[in-house]
Amino acid sequence: VEHILMLNESNISYDVSAGTGIDVIFLHGFPFNRRMWKSQVEQFGQEYRVITPDFRGYGNSSKCYPWTITHLADDIKKLIDRLMSKKVILCGLSMGGYVALEFAASYPELLQSLILCDTKAAADTNQEKNQRAQAMLDISTNGPMPFARSFAQKCIHENSVAEEIAAESITKNGIYELLSGMMALSARKDQTETLSRIECPTLVLCGDKDKITPVSESEFLYNNIIQSTMHIIPDAGHLSNIQNPENFNLHLQKFLATCKESTYQQYLQ
Ligand code: MLT
Repeated sequence: VEHILMLNESNISYDVSAGTGIDVIFLHGFPFNRRMWKSQVEQFGQEYRVITPDFRGYGNSSKCYPWTITHLADDIKKLIDRLMSKKVILCGLSMGGYVALEFAASYPELLQSLILCDTKAAADTNQEKNQRAQAMLDISTNGPMPFARSFAQKCIHENSVAEEIAAESITKNGIYELLSGMMALSARKDQTETLSRIECPTLVLCGDKDKITPVSESEFLYNNIIQSTMHIIPDAGHLSNIQNPENFNLHLQKFLATCKESTYQQYLQ
């Protein structure tokens, strides 16, 4: 069911599933929208209260002034207040993972568990900032399609169905949102120091053929987050939840079951 959270700067559109278990919030990557979590909503939406927001500027959320990753994390905090949740499980892929890490740094008391997919803690290097600036120039000159095509190709492993989803969501955003998103990614903080302060159970997932945030980045997360486990998703690129949903959901299911168990134990104490 679609809801709208009215904030001062943007209206955040989100779906809430019918389930009544623990709250699980899925955070999408750049420049996609909540539809990328379709198979997770289908599988987990009955057992858990699954919440899938569109970040400001994406999907059905309204357009707005240029934003930062901090704005996106604060929007999620406001959404949690609206949902009246005490603690949530945050699952973020790529940019969604950057937001989840920023959230973990700012609001650790609200996190029951964390799931970091195809993401990393480091900020952009100068070289990466240059590449983004180049891509922004390219989008301004040639429109979003060439960028959409080459980005989709980088995300995609072989000819998977994900290409369609990628191209569709990339072109759904306007040029302004694409450029604002790229500025936000480029300016994001380094979260390396945050990792050792994360105390909640954390699951790290990464497609074995991820070219954008390679497996080495996930290994770094796993080595630096105390209570973490890691699984590499076979036959998947950057969008591991779309490219191998069976394997991705299997690990998610096991992890969520342990979260449920520990919530139950806390309740008994
Ligand atoms: C994403 O998938 O969210 C982006 O590729 C992240 C990035 O470019 O750093």
